[in-house]
Amino acid sequence: MLFNTHSEVQSFLKDKKKSVGLVPTMGALHKGHISLVEKAAQENEWIIVSIFVNPTQFNNPEDLANYPKNIAEDKIMLAPFKEKLILYVPKSKDLYPKNLISKEFCFAGLEKQIEGTFRPGHFNGVATVIESLFHKLLPNRAYFGEKDFQQLQIIKALTKQLGLNIKIIGCPIVREKDGLALSSRNKLLTLEERKAASVIFKTLKEIKSRQENWNINEMEAYFKKSIEREYHLRTEYFFIAKTNDLIPLKALDKGGCYRIFVAVFAGKTRLIDTLELEII
Ligand code: PAF
Repeated sequence: MLFNTHSEVQSFLKDKKKSVGLVPTMGALHKGHISLVEKAAQENEWIIVSIFVNPTQFNNPEDLANYPKNIAEDKIMLAPFKEKLILYVPKSKDLYPKNLISKEFCFAGLEKQIEGTFRPGHFNGVATVIESLFHKLLPNRAYFGEKDFQQLQIIKALTKQLGLNIKIIGCPIVREKDGLALSSRNKLLTLEERKAASVIFKTLKEIKSRQENWNINEMEAYFKKSIEREYHLRTEYFFIAKTNDLIPLKALDKGGCYRIFVAVFAGKTRLIDTLELEII
């Protein structure tokens, strides 16, 4: 079933009294998205996959213009789920009835760290569209990938703030054989950039294996050196933060869950990745 308006989705689900899992996407689907849809299909009677390239979360107009779109391929990837799938492909007016602008949110500073520093306004855009999707579709559960770990934490905080009874489920990163985290943006990489990009995860794993011996400065220096050895790659940031507040740390103290967060340019394409460190 394909619908372009939320009211059609609502009237389709009315009186069905079934559990609904929502997988919000911006299309250009890959196996990472499909892993979310699979999980949603296991846990719910209906799945809604939304496809909407949300303009308010792009802080760079070129990035928005170049964002990959291929609805025909998306439909093919979703075909195995057709028995319980509701594909929702709205126009901006359906999600933003007044103006295509972001609301201002505050998530106790979570929104200001890491990606928030490098992509001003990004999380306001994400939270605005997710609030709209949640209110309009009222799912029981919603599924997000851990590659966008900060986004996941912010959506959990948003759901709490709005007092919505929606369970937010984070799903593990899906990687290519050589370790590159799946992302719609990978479709924009040239062959050389794609090959070089495998160094990102390889380096993250090397750093994790030496976390007992290195301090954060040493880890950052190693990451940057390893990335910059590749002609096509450039590090935008390398941070380590606790998963509860995401405040970048200068040193690892004892206790708590830590993650590395990186952003790397492969040519003009910006890739992010994250890896959990061992608990110390
Ligand atoms: O992760 C994404 O694809 C987007 O940020 C999301 C959650 C669909 C909101 O537009």
